[in-house]
Amino acid sequence: MAELTTVAVAGASGQLGKPLVSLFIKSGHYSIVRILVRQGTIDKPEFQEYRDRSGVEIVEVDYENPDSVLASLKDIQLVVSCVAKPGQITNQLPLAKAAHTAGVKLFIPSDFGQNFPTYGDPNDRYVNTPVLYGKYAFFKLANEINLPQASFAVGNWMESLITPRGGFDFAARKVTIYGTGEPPVSWAVTNDIARYVDHILRTVPLKEALGKKFRMQGDRQSPNDIVRLWEQKYGEKLEVTYKPISEIHKLLDESEGNNFLASLWNEWANGRGAFPPDEVDNHYFPDWNPKKVVDYI
Ligand SMILES: NC(=O)c1ccc[n+]([C@@H]2O[C@H](COP(=O)([O-])OP(=O)(O)OC[C@H]3O[C@@H](n4cnc5c(N)ncnc54)[C@H](OP(=O)(O)O)[C@@H]3O)[C@@H](O)[C@H]2O)c1
Repeated sequence: MAELTTVAVAGASGQLGKPLVSLFIKSGHYSIVRILVRQGTIDKPEFQEYRDRSGVEIVEVDYENPDSVLASLKDIQLVVSCVAKPGQITNQLPLAKAAHTAGVKLFIPSDFGQNFPTYGDPNDRYVNTPVLYGKYAFFKLANEINLPQASFAVGNWMESLITPRGGFDFAARKVTIYGTGEPPVSWAVTNDIARYVDHILRTVPLKEALGKKFRMQGDRQSPNDIVRLWEQKYGEKLEVTYKPISEIHKLLDESEGNNFLASLWNEWANGRGAFPPDEVDNHYFPDWNPKKVVDYI
């Protein structure tokens, strides 16, 4: 969106927000890069390094005060939200309403994950859960107020999920997989997500982006593929435990729908962890050269 040259970012101190803001600054594309900071977090070290950069503004926002949120968007054409889960309701929704009032040209919500195609279907109670509601609530609101938006589905972050927490405990040589482990899963590393988002925001015409969900993929490997790749790379065997999908449902029931990892595993096990190959939008980035799972593990 060459035509959008002022940007405000919420969640700029986070895992994705940090590399994204660095790219926004480095590109020289934006005359204003405004960092929106929640009250009480302005002294975070992450913000200190931005303070003296030319064109960078740091603004403290009281998300409970609509005037404060609106004022933070003065002269802003593009808003990018990278806020973490609780903030998707407490910060992102007031920001979206203010963006609408301020006449912002495009709002990018903090999506940046799997697609969850069945969210909103009351029959799918393992997807229609409170832990996913923050993301869904944005699209519901944007639709109601006719907010110009585009979003990014980037699959699963390797740094978050090819980890002991995600079931891949390579140090202990143990892997836990729900379901058969055969359906493919879309993967990416955070720096590639930031590179892709920055590229799209500077290059795709606004008209083409409006309402679009850009589906980016770094790699596509099933949990069983990851086990095979690791064993081939290191010449050792992993102990793999397979658990039935009913165990995921138990985790979701016990947490009253608040177990985020179980929500992701549910998608992987049900074959919805990867984008259909013909729906991947990597072609927007010429010479796309993302990090592959084999190079990450
Ligand atoms: N699919 C995946 O595998 C995957 C993995 C990780 C993340 N994600 C998604 O990517 C997006 C960004 O995640 P991230 O990991 O970069 O986030 P993060 O590092 O956990 O946090 C991002 C920022 O959220 C802001 N925030 C606002 N309100 C908050 C609140 N009430 N509590 C805590 N933080 C709050 C904070 O920024 P300030 O202090 O500047 O306000 C924080 O730095 C999210 O939508 C997340 O769901 C997806």
